[in-house]
Amino acid sequence: ARLKLAVVVGSNRRESINRKLAEALAKLGGDDFEPSFVRIDDLPLFNQDLEADRPEPTLRLKREIEAADAILIVTPEHNRSIPAALKNAIDWASRPYGKNSWAGKTVAVTGTSGGAVGTAVSQNELRMIMTNLAGVVVGGQVFITYKEGLIDDQREITNDATRAFLKGFLDQFAGIARKLAA
Ligand code: FNR
Repeated sequence: ARLKLAVVVGSNRRESINRKLAEALAKLGGDDFEPSFVRIDDLPLFNQDLEADRPEPTLRLKREIEAADAILIVTPEHNRSIPAALKNAIDWASRPYGKNSWAGKTVAVTGTSGGAVGTAVSQNELRMIMTNLAGVVVGGQVFITYKEGLIDDQREITNDATRAFLKGFLDQFAGIARKLAA
């Protein structure tokens, strides 16, 4: 059976290059994973006061994370950190205390930006956060420099070397997630 994969895109931008990369990865990993995209752009800004009567989108987020065997987070870098929208989603799903939805999940992290080492800093930060919250954050540092045309309208990765590299990353992720889900 294919692994249930929750895909979290760390950008709330309509034309997000990270969403394009995430869609390409979902397609590339199609034999191993059954992907579903998790929405984060309608979550209110986290506030402990809201926890008494939690808004529905935050409950939906927790349900979707909990239903998954594995989590793929594809994130941009905002000022050498993860975007506020992603941190907001991570915080919501980590709560309430004792009911952290990320617990025990196998997580993989990647991302893209126009910069040469774009997203390296944000990914390392994200890796640290998820190491605290999740079960396992898989190895492999995958920083993709986005160039126009790298991902086409059919969500195919047009560069052979990049596609092979990303396939290797997904294979490793699936292998680990499968062992831990067994
Ligand atoms: C950026 N961008 C950026 N890029 C980068 O490689 N390192 C960085 O620290 C930053 N910082 C940053 C801050 C803010 C507030 C914005 C809006 C942007 C550029 C970023 O990589 C670019 O906007 C990407 O297109 C963002 O990814 P999405 O939203 O297209 O997926």
